[in-house]
Amino acid sequence: MGRTILIVGATGRLGVALANALAARKDNVVLTARDPNKLEALSAQIAKSVGVSAPPFVTADLTREDAVETITGELRHERLHIDDIVLACGPFPRTPFDELKREHLQHTLTVHAIAPLLLVHALSEQLAASQGAVVALGDAGITRPYTNHVAYITAKGALSTGLRALAVELAPDVRVNMVALGIVADPEADADPLRTHRLATRSPLGRFGTSEEVVHAVLALLDATWATGEIWGIGR
Ligand SMILES: NC(=O)c1ccc[n+]([C@@H]2O[C@H](COP(=O)([O-])OP(=O)(O)OC[C@H]3O[C@@H](n4cnc5c(N)ncnc54)[C@H](OP(=O)(O)O)[C@@H]3O)[C@@H](O)[C@H]2O)c1
Repeated sequence: MGRTILIVGATGRLGVALANALAARKDNVVLTARDPNKLEALSAQIAKSVGVSAPPFVTADLTREDAVETITGELRHERLHIDDIVLACGPFPRTPFDELKREHLQHTLTVHAIAPLLLVHALSEQLAASQGAVVALGDAGITRPYTNHVAYITAKGALSTGLRALAVELAPDVRVNMVALGIVADPEADADPLRTHRLATRSPLGRFGTSEEVVHAVLALLDATWATGEIWGIGR
């Protein structure tokens, strides 16, 4: 029987690919994000294309103080026991240095670090009971920062440090690992086509990644029973 895996940010570009891949290998996915319409559509799409019953979903905005309680309360209500968590949530806001404000940092830190860390904390007993795993999508920019994204990169750095601390707190029953990604999709590519080329050639592999390549690394870390506190850099 497959494991029950909560996917946070399930409706995003990478979340959708991860949810489909996990459902296809007969894990039971539980989806969460902010927009109920996208969640409902994804649940129906997975049911249709994978041939499973429609995955349950929980609507929660991670900027809200009650987000973690909303998610855990709904899981309790539906009698869902979570074995593993995949963290694939959050925005990629451009915050030009001249315009950087406290709110930008508060927003990114809340969605990318505070809420995910508290969610893992809240579900840690369930994860431990299942010898579970957490895998988060991080960003290679935390060790090689790029311009105009101080708020985002700072938040991803906080997530990375927080998860490594959780790997120690939760060992040996729960493994906590991270994938530090190069670029899969660049929201600003349309405005500046040369930018894509410039950014892609910064990577020794000379190109952006694909969602399939991210899925491959995340599934490998979910299954890596002798790894915790690791950050696997791909695409940089
Ligand atoms: N794509 C890349 O090139 C790349 C590179 C490096 C790292 N990453 C990381 O990989 C992860 C996934 O990236 P992606 O490209 O798939 O992102 P994406 O397409 O922008 O999707 C983001 C997901 O997070 C959810 N989300 C955003 N704000 C939220 C909030 N306040 N509360 C709850 N959920 C929220 C979105 O749901 P709603 O639509 O409902 O808001 C969506 O499901 C992110 O952590 C990103 O930082 C991506």
